[in-house]
Amino acid sequence: MAVLCHSPLNLKLFTSSSSRNRNVNPSAHSRSEPPPVFTSVKSFAPATVANLGPGFDFLGCAVDGIGDFVTLRLDPNVHPGEVSISDISGAGKKLRRNPRWNCAGIAAISVMKMLNIRSVGLTLSLHKGLPLGSGLGSSAASAAAAAVAVNELFGRPLTLTDLVLAGLDSESKVSGYHADNVAPAIMGGFVLIRSYHPLELIQLNFPHEKNLFFVLANPEFEAPTKKMREALPQEITMSHHIWNCSQAGALVASVLLGDVSGFGKALSSDKIVEPRRTPLIPGMEGVKKAAMEAGAFGCTISGAGPTAVAVTDNEETGREIGQRMVEAFLEHGKLKALAMVKKLDRIGARLVSSQPI
Ligand code: HSE
Repeated sequence: MAVLCHSPLNLKLFTSSSSRNRNVNPSAHSRSEPPPVFTSVKSFAPATVANLGPGFDFLGCAVDGIGDFVTLRLDPNVHPGEVSISDISGAGKKLRRNPRWNCAGIAAISVMKMLNIRSVGLTLSLHKGLPLGSGLGSSAASAAAAAVAVNELFGRPLTLTDLVLAGLDSESKVSGYHADNVAPAIMGGFVLIRSYHPLELIQLNFPHEKNLFFVLANPEFEAPTKKMREALPQEITMSHHIWNCSQAGALVASVLLGDVSGFGKALSSDKIVEPRRTPLIPGMEGVKKAAMEAGAFGCTISGAGPTAVAVTDNEETGREIGQRMVEAFLEHGKLKALAMVKKLDRIGARLVSSQPI
């Protein structure tokens, strides 16, 4: 990976070092195995809002205060080069502990392969703060926290792009080859996926001095990403293509300018994905209407849903919008829901604590 540019317009470009095959890191073949620098580490990765309306599979952002934790330690009882999952707590009780079928396990294995780890075995413990199938990037948060934990345990040899590629290995096995959750979960802030092959990421910096609040209304309903992707059209009309591209462009411009009202307008504008998914989420149409009537600048489905996301520039207004969205889920969808008002997470997945060797 290389950071190509950091312009005055608050754009940061990241690209993988070659047009690599999606599962093979060319640098891994020549990499010598790094020694561990910690006996254990604990990492955190935040929730994410993918798509942001017209940015299906290519735009996403991280939100602060909620996410998943991974604790990882050297374990002489685990076969060298392998990872075992000791326990899963929090909202992920029904997840499998076989690392090859677990988001965190798959990402950890991918990073271990990139690093050529053959001399030590690892044990991973996952605490899920995010509900499964919620549209808040639950699988990506587990993958991001695990990828970062392995990288930190071995002295942080990999780049952010490498870690996103490891997260993509995981996402592709559980929900589809899309990085609009895992890239912001790892990098923080707003991320535009400019290309998948090779992976090219553009971090969009929202101005620090502007207020932006995400209102997340999460109903008691599971919307598996795979199923929500199956509902999408295989082909779209030229007029929808033009409309969605112009809205995605406007969304990027609004983020860079810190124009929350313009951001909300663009977020609300998707004519391709949202209309197909809305009928699959009980009450969603009424929830969007309620959020807009309560003063939101925009509202759409967060990721594949069922969480609805609205935006505002005022925290108190955000709480009122959240209340109205919860009422609307109950009234129109007969679903109980919880609302949260969150800021942008500008950091992404991070080390929380570590135990030196
Ligand atoms: N872009 C993905 C989708 C995100 O909408 O299917 C899933 O969280």
